[in-house]
Amino acid sequence: MNISKVVIPVAGWGTRSLPATKNIPKEMLPVYNKPVVQYVVEEAIHSGIRDVVFITNRDKNVIEDHFDYNLQLEATLERSGKTDMLAKVRAVAEMVKIISIRQKRALGLGHAVACAVDVCSNDDAFAVMVGDDLMFGMSPGIQQLIDVARSERKPVIGVMEVPQEEVSRYGIISGEESSPGIYKIKKLVEKPRINDSPSRLAIVGRYVLTPDIFDCLERVSPGHGGEIQLTDGLQLLAEKTGLLAVKIRGTRFDAGNWAEYLTANIYFALQDSELRDDLIQRLKALLP
Ligand code: G1P
Repeated sequence: MNISKVVIPVAGWGTRSLPATKNIPKEMLPVYNKPVVQYVVEEAIHSGIRDVVFITNRDKNVIEDHFDYNLQLEATLERSGKTDMLAKVRAVAEMVKIISIRQKRALGLGHAVACAVDVCSNDDAFAVMVGDDLMFGMSPGIQQLIDVARSERKPVIGVMEVPQEEVSRYGIISGEESSPGIYKIKKLVEKPRINDSPSRLAIVGRYVLTPDIFDCLERVSPGHGGEIQLTDGLQLLAEKTGLLAVKIRGTRFDAGNWAEYLTANIYFALQDSELRDDLIQRLKALLP
């Protein structure tokens, strides 16, 4: 199963992060020294993916620009002999090939994925990664799904257990555990009420899908919030080809949640040995 592309929908408004995101895409908010979306792209790269399909809109060009050369900036860095920084800036431009598709109307995550039909329908399978879910662990989150998709020859989605009071923030699955941490999905519900949730296994923005999803999404009518939900398309895919869920091992930060976003900033800053001790001192001084 050849998986060379990742679809990253980035056309959402980012209302949870206002007013910070009034004129900056939420995907460009920095986590320590890189924008959120760069972590997502790097996770894909570390899983062997080289082509990124951004599902974008008129206000998000800056995301594509981030992964392109900035010749004026590079010339300035070169003139001033800042070769380390020059290398870092160039490396981002050379990371991936970008394909960009406009989602002309914001009709939901399912609609965003359906916009990729022309570039992904001839692939064996492709990844989908939600641009504000950051994940770190032993092996990249999307790699864990790719491994299972290849061995089982089935589409796979990533899940994590969440507390009961948080189920209504997510798509929730139910199914039968066929081997440790792998589930054959029976049912998926988008943002159920706390008491109606079939389980606490939440979809966490990582998917490996086959092109069968495109026919399924065509048959989906507006669901939760009046949007075309990817989760509803996945229910049809589960019935058509079978669909597996993998419990992702690792730590996840939802960049749209301020507490998690700020924790992610500290987590990454603490990995930088030049900053670590100073940062710890300053944080300690803030605590009563
Ligand atoms: C989307 C999906 C939902 C999933 C979530 C993960 O929701 O619709 O099923 O659990 O991403 O981040 P959103 O957060 O865009 O409302």
